[in-house]
Amino acid sequence: MNNKLQIKALTQNIGAEISNVDLTEELSADIRSQLFDAIMEYQVIFFRDQPINHEQHKEVGRIFGDLIIHPGVAGIEGHEDIVAIHADKDSKYVAGDNWHTDLSCNAEPPMGSMLYLHTIPDIGGDTLFSSMYAAYDALSPRMQEYLSGLEAEHDANHVYHAIFGDYSKTYPCNVHPVIRTHPVTGKKSIYVNSSYTTRIMGLSKTESEGILTMLYNHVKDPNFQVRFTWQPDSIAIWDNRCTQHFAVWDYFPQTRSGYRVTMAGEKPE
Ligand code: SIN
Repeated sequence: MNNKLQIKALTQNIGAEISNVDLTEELSADIRSQLFDAIMEYQVIFFRDQPINHEQHKEVGRIFGDLIIHPGVAGIEGHEDIVAIHADKDSKYVAGDNWHTDLSCNAEPPMGSMLYLHTIPDIGGDTLFSSMYAAYDALSPRMQEYLSGLEAEHDANHVYHAIFGDYSKTYPCNVHPVIRTHPVTGKKSIYVNSSYTTRIMGLSKTESEGILTMLYNHVKDPNFQVRFTWQPDSIAIWDNRCTQHFAVWDYFPQTRSGYRVTMAGEKPE
């Protein structure tokens, strides 16, 4: 392998498949920098045939930021910063089968996430990613102007209380701009999602629900999306600041399994 990544864009708006790199090996500063640039440009990047172990997973994740500990899901044994992503015949729910960006409930939501799957159902289990840059750009100038300066609440309590049934534990709840500006690219994106966002501050309940419903429908437009079909040992790394994703659970009772690390971000502005 030479030291230049091969990058194949998958759509006009989002997503690229990357080859000519072995993520099980130590990566040079130049390759790390190319990977960083690729995620800034394509928002989500995909890799095939990368049978990484936990240490290698964390090492690649750290290219993009320090690893954070998930506030709602315990890490795997010996690695508090790796969560298992697993569904099988006994599963009552799966992580992420609705449009969301990871942990927007946090005061400093994560910059990105890196998912490695080793076990894949025969058919199904794709993940869809949607570009929130493209979604923002497609709004009318009047709507962009209206949403700018508004803030919304992102509450993890309803999410994890419903999953775990334990109402005694408290999860993060924070307020962030409805439209945020990416700290690296300077581009604007929509930053509300149907999983964590509960209301727009300063609007009546009816107004808030109306605007959020409009935005949730808008971000589902296939024109903003890329759909990734997993194979064993595939990897996806995405930028949570400008994307949303949806893990399709159409493979029950089959097994889909792997691990995720989450990279630290900053307070959205
Ligand atoms: C998630 O991180 O939301 C899960 C994504 C997936 O399982 O494809």
